[in-house]
Amino acid sequence: MRFLVTAGPTREHLDPVRFLSNRSTGRMGFAVAAAAAAAGHECLLVAGPVSLPTPDGVERVDVVSALEMLDAVKSGLEDADALVMCAAVADWRPKAFAPTKLKKEGMAPVIELERNPDILKSIAPMKGGRIFVGFAAETGDPCEEATRKLAAKGLDMIVANDVSKPDSGFAVDTNRVTFLFPSGRRTYLPLLKKSEVAARIVAAVEAMA
Ligand code: PMT
Repeated sequence: MRFLVTAGPTREHLDPVRFLSNRSTGRMGFAVAAAAAAAGHECLLVAGPVSLPTPDGVERVDVVSALEMLDAVKSGLEDADALVMCAAVADWRPKAFAPTKLKKEGMAPVIELERNPDILKSIAPMKGGRIFVGFAAETGDPCEEATRKLAAKGLDMIVANDVSKPDSGFAVDTNRVTFLFPSGRRTYLPLLKKSEVAARIVAAVEAMA
């Protein structure tokens, strides 16, 4: 199979030195790409700005913003059999971008924002027979919001991660996740290394293929 995996945050620049972003380090998505390659699959990794080496056997495209990630996903999707959207995509971007550094004296105390496209929703018409897996990072009941996103984004599986605990979610090497499927089936996993969570995701995709 050929996997398309997204990882890391996006950065939404206000000027060349300031941006809106989030705490994603790319570890979970890079682990999925590494697990796909280790299982003998081809893999294209679309990475936001992170400081991680490219896993062996993985092809990589670096992007910065959500709009760039959307373009890279659209062009990678044609050859892909499965998409795993692990990236923490910024939902908003500053309405205006200043090409030179803003002077603090001239800056307004309010930043006007506009919505970024939802990548999964934008590419839904291209899905065809491909397997689409999303992630949901939640601080409340991870499964409740993930169930809504699974349906709203037309996914075959969503990985709900509990990011309220210090050992799970953003910027750590472990994750506590539940796989949710449209049939209502759920697979609860204990706290595992991200490499192990990634291997289980790849196996779940293989089982759906
Ligand atoms: O990178 P790490 O430090 O290892 O952390 C991993 C992680 C916590 C970032 C990762 O496991 C994770 O949960 N990623 C999804 C983060 C998230 O907040 O997703 P969301 O609930 O905003 O979005 C739900 C799904 O829609 C995701 O698959 C997301 O990629 C996708 N999405 C979101 C926004 C958007 N504009 N377009 C999208 O396609």
